[in-house]
Amino acid sequence: MNRFNSIYRHKRYRELLSRLQKLESDRKFCRHHLQHFLDVARIMYIIDLEENLNISKDIIYSAALLHDIGRVSQYVDGIPHNEAGAAIADEILKDCGFDETERNCICSAILCHRHDSAVQNDGLSRLLSRADKLSRNCFDCPASDECYWSSDIKNPEIQF
Ligand SMILES: [Fe+2]
Ligand SMILES: [Fe+2]
Repeated sequence: MNRFNSIYRHKRYRELLSRLQKLESDRKFCRHHLQHFLDVARIMYIIDLEENLNISKDIIYSAALLHDIGRVSQYVDGIPHNEAGAAIADEILKDCGFDETERNCICSAILCHRHDSAVQNDGLSRLLSRADKLSRNCFDCPASDECYWSSDIKNPEIQF
């Protein structure tokens, strides 16, 4: 099994994903389900290829799968999801065979993926943040007017 599928199969990941689906069942704004994580992964990989960034596919998919897993802690304990997610990701990545350099790279991308957080200063962080934003169809969202994203961040039309 490749490493990003071991993340998907990881017991803690499965538990958090399932709790997240329940916590967001009535959410009218963008949800953070597997489809979102895979949308982000695929957009990241397209940009990676288009711009010759040479970031490996399993690092990209792993970062995308884990980037919003801290949402449970945000809803339940009020901890910002990027901070909670980076700590959870480090533990899961360790179990799935990622070395310290890889874990630091993925966890720092998760830590600064929020659009309102400090500037993303490395390739994976910038890529994750860009793809996360591009993945959202704001132009087709009935809750767009109430969304906390500012108008300069929302996608006004289909992005390609
Ligand atoms: Fe996020
Ligand atoms: Fe996201």
